[in-house]
Amino acid sequence: MNHLLTMSELSVQEIQEILKDAEEFACGSVVQPKGKTFVANLFFEASTRTRFSFEVAEKRLGLEVLNFSAESSSVQKGETLYDTVKTLQSIGAKAVVIRHQEDRYFDELRGKINIPILNAGDGCGNHPTQSLLDLLTIKQEFGSFEGLKVAIVGDIRHSRVARSNAEALTRLGASVFFASPKEWEDGQNSFGTYASLDELIPQIDVLMLLRVQHERHDKFAENIMRDYHEQHGLTIEREKRMKSGSIILHPAPVNRGVEIADELVECGRSRIFKQMENGVYVRMAVLKRALSAELGGVNHELLV
Ligand code: CP
Repeated sequence: MNHLLTMSELSVQEIQEILKDAEEFACGSVVQPKGKTFVANLFFEASTRTRFSFEVAEKRLGLEVLNFSAESSSVQKGETLYDTVKTLQSIGAKAVVIRHQEDRYFDELRGKINIPILNAGDGCGNHPTQSLLDLLTIKQEFGSFEGLKVAIVGDIRHSRVARSNAEALTRLGASVFFASPKEWEDGQNSFGTYASLDELIPQIDVLMLLRVQHERHDKFAENIMRDYHEQHGLTIEREKRMKSGSIILHPAPVNRGVEIADELVECGRSRIFKQMENGVYVRMAVLKRALSAELGGVNHELLV
């Protein structure tokens, strides 16, 4: 079963294969569905980018999209996640895309659901398709990951993006550094070295800013937020000290003027909107991997 649940469950070779397929989709490759194939998108937590780029990816692959809304579903009558997913499987969905507020919600489904589950983000746990689109954006820029210095900056402790990326980048040969308010350091994440943001800024190739996760914070966050931009954000002064050729990533949504100065969101180094475009290609690639029986091979003749 080709689930996509965490980055750690993908081998380096599988990551490289997904990136290669995504690059081909970016160049205009298409696949032909063998018949009507339904995919259900279940978002129990808010999303703009992941939800709509999955939907665009599905439609570009010729898939039939079932959009599930927790607010208007039988979840309101107490139906469990398992029964909801089993129902969608029973009525013909061939894969489910799930975003859920619970860390590792998929553990209760694994082994019991016979269609691929594509994790679109679980609580503070994992966000594998965000990691893959970040990797694609870095690869497009630098060609490979070996020897790159990547700083992941901000709310490390609550970030599923930090967790997914730090491990994957390390396995691909990059050096990962973290810069974070002390309270938001993550003692569980051993795939990076903590350093001061101001020391990292002139040395790094990739600056990966994280969104401040207001919805997951406790009362101590108020103190951190008072001078967050000056202490931990990308100010105009810090951007001027970045290395030539280095790039800025942010998974978005961006808190403008907090993680990054408003004027820098679309500056020459920023790849923030490129990341969003790449999200479609990466999600096409992971759907192709999950639905290899339902989708034909990539048609290279149709490359534009
Ligand atoms: N980056 C990301 O996951 O954005 P959404 O929450 O809008 O999907």
